[in-house]
Amino acid sequence: MAGKFDEIYARSINDPEGFWAEAAEDVHWYKRWDKVLDDSNPPFYRWFPGAETNTCYNAVDRHVEAGRGAQNAIIYDSPITGGVQRKITYAELQDQVARFASVMQAEGVGYGDRVIVYMPMVPEAAIAMLACARIGAVHCVVFGGFAPQELATRIDDSEAKLIVTATCGIEPGRTVEYMPMVTEAIDLAKHKIGRIVVLQREQHPVETVAGRDVDWHEAVAAASPADCVPVKATDPLYILYTSGTTGQPKGVIRDTGGHMVALKWSMKNIYGVEPGEVYWAASDVGWVVGHSYIVYAPLFHGSTTILFEGKPVGTPDAGVFWRVLSEHNVSVMFTAPTAFRAIKREDPEGKLIKDYDLSNFRTLFLAGERTDPDTLHWAENNLKVPVIDHWWQTETGWSIGTNCIGIEMLPVKAGSPTRAAPGYDVQILDNDGSELPRGEMGAICVKLPLPPSCFPNLWNASDRYIESYMAEFPGYYKTGDAGYLDEDDYIFVMTRTDDVINVAGHRLSTGAIEEVLASHPDVAECAVIGVADQLKGQLPLGFLVLNSGVARDNQDITDEAVKLVRQEIGPVAAFKTVTVVDRLPKTRSGKILRGTMQKIADSEDYKMPATIDDPIILNEIEGALKTVGYARN
Ligand code: COA
Ligand code: AMP
Repeated sequence: MAGKFDEIYARSINDPEGFWAEAAEDVHWYKRWDKVLDDSNPPFYRWFPGAETNTCYNAVDRHVEAGRGAQNAIIYDSPITGGVQRKITYAELQDQVARFASVMQAEGVGYGDRVIVYMPMVPEAAIAMLACARIGAVHCVVFGGFAPQELATRIDDSEAKLIVTATCGIEPGRTVEYMPMVTEAIDLAKHKIGRIVVLQREQHPVETVAGRDVDWHEAVAAASPADCVPVKATDPLYILYTSGTTGQPKGVIRDTGGHMVALKWSMKNIYGVEPGEVYWAASDVGWVVGHSYIVYAPLFHGSTTILFEGKPVGTPDAGVFWRVLSEHNVSVMFTAPTAFRAIKREDPEGKLIKDYDLSNFRTLFLAGERTDPDTLHWAENNLKVPVIDHWWQTETGWSIGTNCIGIEMLPVKAGSPTRAAPGYDVQILDNDGSELPRGEMGAICVKLPLPPSCFPNLWNASDRYIESYMAEFPGYYKTGDAGYLDEDDYIFVMTRTDDVINVAGHRLSTGAIEEVLASHPDVAECAVIGVADQLKGQLPLGFLVLNSGVARDNQDITDEAVKLVRQEIGPVAAFKTVTVVDRLPKTRSGKILRGTMQKIADSEDYKMPATIDDPIILNEIEGALKTVGYARN
């Protein structure tokens, strides 16, 4: 007999319009849709065309009107600043967001305009995002660990009207000064931005630039609240740039209506959370997890969200997660496995957990990278709650594969994010597009149409949308991940099929790092691979072939290469290891054998590629890897 999950899943696939129309009843609409799904122009599908709504109204005002005004909407907990905390009720959030929306309007920002939000993990980041949504502007949040060049690329691509920033972020042992980076990015960008709203932080006050900078606190204090503006369900809520195969990131568009419907639905059905409960996603607003599960979903649901500015270890110790869970009565938490590996390394026996009362804590969700069985079992044994791996991407905004514990908890299989979530028809395809039998590894694809919240397009890049995701397997979305389904339809996500690597749950493109390395004047050719790392999952590792006649010390060149990547991409690239080689292994047609190099680095078995030009080079690569601590076994 089919279980409850099977029934709901089958309905979502057999009658997607009925399924999502029902879920949409949980959202406030100013005007209802003409059609649930417009499928007239594949692969460009649109959910809820004709409807009008407002994301901020659904996240904030609606709850104040329904009597939740005095409930905490956001709890800001910042161990990195030495313990600053702030609790913001829904009523206070409404006031702050409405005033900041009016500040942006005074700066000429209106419906459809783009606003860059380049901020650390402070409540004002969420306020700025919600304020954009309130007036129909499109936010474009840029992670603070990206360098000015990356910020400039996003300014140019989005053609934003305004930047909202803060004077600093705080990383262990250093203050990250935002203003010099913003100034440099503005200078680098071709698209010119004349105005910046600056949040002065007491940890690092700065002199503002007259005529360019607007002081957040002063402007908000003087502003009168702005109302929510009805927008189309199909209008973009935000653009979030993510790594592609080149240095040019992809601007993933999130639409307004579908996003709200799917995320609201997910809170109860996937996470098993009730309105009024406390939910904590320990990520950063700069990533998709932060957009969906620090800001939007918990607020759509009338829950309380935690905005945590700190690290899993060192702020001040490996017990900080348990302190936050206990102190704020968190019911459900979501983070990346790498955070748990960091804690496990410092406190292998989980002794610090015993100092805290975690009786209210029910479930831990992990995502961002595959949860390795060791980490899964450590978390299960020490926390004594279900630990759920779930798989998703910036492109989808919510999980593709998960265990819907709010519907029915299915048995956990280590190494699998469980089953396809309702709305996703996941299939494993062979190179020729045919479906592979259970247990066989292939490209993980989702049959179109994708469910609500999934990206309807890339910003200003419809051709790239088709070419990167839709062209190879017509009628399917290619996830870029490879893996298999087992006999119970459990998904196993094993590796990427492109050059994306996953470093501490952050998605990076080796192609983008190669572009930076290639710009070094002494470098003739280069390659970057992702090597296994016990803490971060993967780390980038570079190989440089120098121009002939370069007589400088290799160490100087590799030091410069590391510095260059930090300067051009940012510290988040975690690029620290690079080695000089005489030549790179290639196929006879000239393709660099990155996959084989990665296997050698990780001491995995590999097959000699039949098309290799000169097998001897692999010995040279192995030798070079040994000098930097890899290929040891
Ligand atoms: N602004 C500026 N710099 C930042 C930054 C930010 N917002 N976030 C990270 N960095 C810097 C770090 O300080 C570090 O710099 P360093 O080279 O000078 O030490 C560098 O970027 C690499 O950061 P990270 O990969 O995060 O490594 P880490 O050693 O600082 O921390 C973990 C390791 C595991 C503790 C950390 O990655 C973590 O907490 N991860 C949680 C997972 C997560 O949030 N994933 C998001 C998707 S769910
Ligand atoms: P991002 O777009 O930054 O969220 O990264 C998405 C990519 O991270 C996916 O395509 C996967 O490669 C990887 N990923 C995220 N979650 C998981 C998971 N639970 N298991 C395996 N891989 C994951």
